[in-house]
Amino acid sequence: KRLVVLVSGSGTNLQALLDAVAEAGPEAYGAEIVAVGADRDGIEGLARAERAGLPTFVCKVKDYGSREEWDAALTRATAAYEPDLVVSAGFMKIVGKEFLARFGGRFVNTHPALLPSFPGTHGVRDALAYGAKVAGCTVHFVDDGVDTGPIIAQGVVEVRDEDDESALHERIKEVERRLLVDVVGRLARNGYRIEGRKVVIQ
Ligand code: GRF
Repeated sequence: KRLVVLVSGSGTNLQALLDAVAEAGPEAYGAEIVAVGADRDGIEGLARAERAGLPTFVCKVKDYGSREEWDAALTRATAAYEPDLVVSAGFMKIVGKEFLARFGGRFVNTHPALLPSFPGTHGVRDALAYGAKVAGCTVHFVDDGVDTGPIIAQGVVEVRDEDDESALHERIKEVERRLLVDVVGRLARNGYRIEGRKVVIQ
């Protein structure tokens, strides 16, 4: 299976996927990353892709006359690599109708909170501020909402009294990277069905 990964930042989830494919080999893992896309340049995530010898593309919202034109450009750039699965690994933009029309049902996101709690850009900060005793991460299919698509898997992390946002987020990311590698591999190798809000991996 062909994967395109979308990033906006440090790309440690991308790196976990790159390492998993390199370690197991594309056949055994079930997939290989064929390109990495971003909404901004100058980020470590793109540097990681370049170090792995992968093609990259950048679609910046401000380079387009409208959000719809950006969405169309992102769709085209992603489609050029003919992915079977698209993975948002810290991609910080909400895709539009065209992207979802093209990749809905095979577009996966990882979110650093236990959805449906704490969706959006500051999931870790919101869980901490709320006083949650457990936090975690969610890998889900992307639908037309924000972090609302069918949940594939979740991982739980305890919140410690001394945690600040970055300490908690780092602890979540340790679980998240393993969860994402496991889920993407299983989706790619076994195939899956989405039945309403249920995801069945064969
Ligand atoms: C991840 O925790 C992801 O869930 C969140 O931002 C973080 C990205 O980390 N949206 P990285 O870029 O993969 O290191």
